[in-house]
Amino acid sequence: MDLHLIPGAEASAEERAAVDQVAGPAIGGWDGGPRRPETEGHFAAGGHAARQRRHLLLPVLWAVQSRVGWISAGALNYVCQRLSVAPADAYGVATFYAMLSVAPQPKTIVHVCDDLACRLAGGPGLLAELKKTLPADSVRPSPCLGLCERAPAVLFQCAGEGAKDYVVAPATLAPPHPNPLPPPGGEGVVRESALEGPLSPRERDRVRGTGSVSAPQTQDARRDALRLLARVGHVDPASLEDYRAHGGYRALPRAVELGPEGVLRETLASKLQGRGGAAFPAGRKWDAVAKQPARPHYLVCNADESEPGTFKDRVLMEEDPFAVVEAMTIAAFATGCEQGYLYVRGEYPLAAERIAGAVAAARAAGLLGENVLGRGFRFDVELRRGAGAYICGEETALFNSIEGFRGEPRNKPPFPVEKGLFGKPTVINNVETLVNVLPIVLEGGEAYAAIGTAQSTGPKLFCLSGNVARPGVYEVPFGPTLRQLIDLAGGVPDGRAVRAVLLGGAAGSFVTPAELDVPLTFEGTRAIGASLGSGVVMVFDDRADLRDAVRRIAAFFRDESCGQCVPCRVGTERQEELVGRLDAGRPLKGSAEEDALLDEIARAMKDASICGLGQTASGAIQSAIRKLGVFSA
Ligand SMILES: Cc1cc2nc3c(=O)[nH]c(=O)nc-3n(C[C@H](O)[C@H](O)[C@H](O)COP(=O)(O)O)c2cc1C
Ligand code: SF4
Ligand code: FES
Repeated sequence: MDLHLIPGAEASAEERAAVDQVAGPAIGGWDGGPRRPETEGHFAAGGHAARQRRHLLLPVLWAVQSRVGWISAGALNYVCQRLSVAPADAYGVATFYAMLSVAPQPKTIVHVCDDLACRLAGGPGLLAELKKTLPADSVRPSPCLGLCERAPAVLFQCAGEGAKDYVVAPATLAPPHPNPLPPPGGEGVVRESALEGPLSPRERDRVRGTGSVSAPQTQDARRDALRLLARVGHVDPASLEDYRAHGGYRALPRAVELGPEGVLRETLASKLQGRGGAAFPAGRKWDAVAKQPARPHYLVCNADESEPGTFKDRVLMEEDPFAVVEAMTIAAFATGCEQGYLYVRGEYPLAAERIAGAVAAARAAGLLGENVLGRGFRFDVELRRGAGAYICGEETALFNSIEGFRGEPRNKPPFPVEKGLFGKPTVINNVETLVNVLPIVLEGGEAYAAIGTAQSTGPKLFCLSGNVARPGVYEVPFGPTLRQLIDLAGGVPDGRAVRAVLLGGAAGSFVTPAELDVPLTFEGTRAIGASLGSGVVMVFDDRADLRDAVRRIAAFFRDESCGQCVPCRVGTERQEELVGRLDAGRPLKGSAEEDALLDEIARAMKDASICGLGQTASGAIQSAIRKLGVFSA
């Protein structure tokens, strides 16, 4: 059987060049190059090698998308020949991701965030205005862009040789300052956009005069007390020397001194729990991988950060990228991983650029590669870019995405520690989790465990957004109450009162003003039936439209469900319809019946869904209806 290429569809020279830039030149006729009768007269060579390169499918599709602006049938044919994948299969992958297109579209796509925090900051109005100003097919509503502290946010996805994606946040149509560069998105569009590419965030903030800072604590005198954010805004993210001057690359030599068992011992003693949402003990995960006889072991840094309201990992990667690379190296050393991947969401162009720069600089300095620090261990990092799919943050969906398949979660068991990426033992951790290993190695596991509470140890990053005076990432030892954290961010502006707080993101739940004294620990939030999730604290004041927020959450889950399992695919649809009926004041029979129906849908999704998306898709909605009476008023 051949690959069943799409008849009559040829790739252009530009499309071929884009593919070859990632996949390398073709070997011969077997993998899309010119057939050489002298060597390929009787047999085909290179087929096995081509199949081994399936993991390049997403990077290659990205290359075509970025160069040409869409993936034509001819380009798809060429990609398939190069990687020995059937077009039907590759089409399934290309159409999985929101940032890839298999239909012609404008070269610049303007993704305007219309998610929760941006809705509170005029996102929908901005979207409507931009739709009027720009060609309609170039402007799209987007789920959270991970820039909630600078809402409303816009991402410009640009195609063409040398074109770069960039973000604008906060985005306004009428900036208060002169625009030094031509607007790349078209006449009259968000003029601040031109500031994004060439200037660093600090320079941009100065130019804008907005005073918006992603980690406000780093501006005050007590910033030295911070462990995870201390360098943010103070170190040059492009300079290895500056990272070293700010205390960087002290933990790695210390880890080598301790040896893999020593690092594992300290990590276990630290009681560090994962910061990606599931709160699994990192030391236990590492220990399990270290003990696996199968080789190789892989390390994956989960930087997909797509939970609405979450932006802490972005701030770490953009502002302190070497810390992420150093932490990955230590985790790999402890668990016997020789190859690492950092999977960053497609909507984070600056984070991707900074991480790529840090990886290259670390490699050049012998801090990654064949012989790290000259101490005889091998470890390297490859950067992979997602392409707009919330579900790819789920660990097994992320593995499938790296391997070149649709980002659909796998059934567990087997768990990643046994069979993860490429079927091998894999450590997968969130960016923030990994960065915690630096203080653990430097200060010792026991000292680290003394921070916070007995069950929730260490420092924690929270993402404050919505109706707070100083939105941003805040670092506190586990334990302060929600009220104290909101006060740290300047409280609710304009003397308004808190109406609700979304804790943990769309996959979390709403808490009420009566619950503001809940301690922000894993155990404290569990006691009130909530969860910390990825550290989202989104504040809604007494003017906020909570019905609108609930509708948006229902739409989010319906849109982001990968559709693989029925309870989630159908349940998220039915849930959105139900919310629509309640909002319109037209319940099927009565509100009590709708409540019972929602309960049934939620239970089916919780019990029978493959992954956490379906299992958590009703939590925030049910809490809004039951605890806040959102549709009763
Ligand atoms: C739908 C869904 C999305 C997720 N998104 C992320 C994400 O963006 N980043 C992340 O670190 N973990 C995410 N997770 C959790 C991961 O599956 C996994 O638990 C985590 O990467 C493990 O790292 P940790 O132990 O350091 O938290 C997600 C889980 C689900 C179910
Ligand atoms: S629960 Fe939803 S997102 Fe998860 S695998 Fe099933 S359909 Fe996909
Ligand atoms: S960037 Fe818009 S809600 Fe997060």
